[in-house]
Amino acid sequence: MSSTHRPVPFDLPDDSRELAIEQLQSWLPHLIALGLRLKQAHWNLRGARFKSVHEQLDEILEDVRAGVDDVAERIVTIGGAADGLPQTVASESAFATFPSGLLTVDQAIGAICDDLAATVKHGRAALGKLAEADPVSEDLAIGVIGGLEKHHWMLGSQREL
Ligand SMILES: [Fe+2]
Repeated sequence: MSSTHRPVPFDLPDDSRELAIEQLQSWLPHLIALGLRLKQAHWNLRGARFKSVHEQLDEILEDVRAGVDDVAERIVTIGGAADGLPQTVASESAFATFPSGLLTVDQAIGAICDDLAATVKHGRAALGKLAEADPVSEDLAIGVIGGLEKHHWMLGSQREL
């Protein structure tokens, strides 16, 4: 176990904590980057459905920020140290390039739905190891993923069939 990891009083072996911290930390930059990209879309949106989508993007952001906080605090709760520094977010989050400048409503919905899906994909990929390492951390991740999936459905449903 790395020297940055401190002991905790729970019945959670060191190697399990190490694995859970690693998995949660690998997801954290994606969640933080998703929040930044939601604001980018919120600000630069243009078009007929501006107001409802502008507000919906902030509603999603509220849940994403709560998820960021939950994941980061779980890392520290089980003895690690959360890393949400800008350079970590820039190097460890892997999203497609976000469209620069002003966005149509459909562009914003498409870009954010893609980001939500990518964040869910990364979170789901961590679930197997989290289940093995620490079911409480797995449960926390499942809760965050469920919220992101619901937002993906709600935002994407605004696209015409
Ligand atoms: Fe705003």
